[in-house]
Amino acid sequence: MVTPFLPDDEKIPAIREALPSTAAGIYLNTGTAGPLPRETAHAMAEAEAWDLRTGRADLNFYKDSVERKAEARASIAAVLGTDPSHMALTHATTDGMNVATWAVDWRAGDVAVTTNLEHPGGLGPLWAVRERYGVELKIADIGMGADPANVLATFDRAIVPGTRLVSLSHVTWATGACLPIREIAELAHSRGALVAIDGAQAVGAIPVAVEELGADFYAVPGQKWLLGPEGMGAVYCADSVLDRPRLAFAGYSSFESMDLAAEAKLWPDARRFEGVGFHGPSVLGFARSVAWLSMFVGWQWIHDRIARMAGETAAMLADAPGVEVLTPRENMAGLVTFRIAGWKSTSALRELSQRTLCIARTIPPLDAIRISVGFFNTDGELRRFRDGVALVAETTPETIPHRAHIEVLRGGVD
Ligand SMILES: Cc1ncc(COP(=O)(O)O)c(C=O)c1O
Repeated sequence: MVTPFLPDDEKIPAIREALPSTAAGIYLNTGTAGPLPRETAHAMAEAEAWDLRTGRADLNFYKDSVERKAEARASIAAVLGTDPSHMALTHATTDGMNVATWAVDWRAGDVAVTTNLEHPGGLGPLWAVRERYGVELKIADIGMGADPANVLATFDRAIVPGTRLVSLSHVTWATGACLPIREIAELAHSRGALVAIDGAQAVGAIPVAVEELGADFYAVPGQKWLLGPEGMGAVYCADSVLDRPRLAFAGYSSFESMDLAAEAKLWPDARRFEGVGFHGPSVLGFARSVAWLSMFVGWQWIHDRIARMAGETAAMLADAPGVEVLTPRENMAGLVTFRIAGWKSTSALRELSQRTLCIARTIPPLDAIRISVGFFNTDGELRRFRDGVALVAETTPETIPHRAHIEVLRGGVD
């Protein structure tokens, strides 16, 4: 068991032991999916085994599932600093962004505003309402560096009369820039628009006090920086969006009661957005991962460590000749995106994976490599990764030496 009170030299090995896949390579892709805690995997396996033995049909199963969902909402609400009544469980960030985008009663000619650095998880629903209703989609070009003053000026121009929704990421998936959500939300609200935030690369990596941000919806994934299972997430819904039904889809779980004539009482809180059922062991796993991070690792420590190590990694990479860091260092979270001169990102990442055993990804629209710096990474891993990048950057695909270097770059134990 890890405890928040251990000194780092004991705590980090204990954390890595509790996250077995950190031994699979230099784990630098939490932005896609984080390492699952052993404890979460065990809890899910036990739940599966229980379901197998006892069936899933008696009343106790149902009561348990209601409790598990309440526990999951409460754990993510605590991380975001809000009340569980504001949280609806979802199956992914994308699910939450759909809940938010379809909450507007769109009419042809309405305007939705977003940025040029959005993930399809947020862009997809905007595309759908554009095609379905003839909504005008304005894409604010916030520039690669996403300088907060420029970003605000860009939104000021983009949020024109008729704007019903402003939808954007807290931290962009492509460059890792952290956007000034509170100020954008104020601007959008002053012009009568709702605000939907994609928090996929923020929650778990940086502190998120969701009520202070002022968004109407804030979508969260389970599987990334919260180290939960896939197929789970949550969406924060402010009081401002509980005034009308605003449901894109509904079902048994959306209602406190319903009769055969469809006379129904909607849940007064965010549960109304949970129209579709969930895989019980995954609900349990989501809550367990969040609780493990909260109780046995500690949020302040996690956020401080990610901020320090991601900042240092960006600086180390920027110092390597031939490396261009695209992530703005003054407003970043846990992602670092960079290019290596003379290399296509896919070829460079192939070399890096083979030479350093890193697990990372490319960002195809930018032809860049993205790494996610986790609290479980070690300084030694990040230096080894930097050495690998420096080696690739010193060479070209034609001149890079044959892979005899792999042993050198793997180095010893940290
Ligand atoms: C900013 C952002 N939004 C949305 C997504 C999609 O997440 P999910 O699979 O939870 O829908 C991702 C990553 O996959 C992302 O980085």
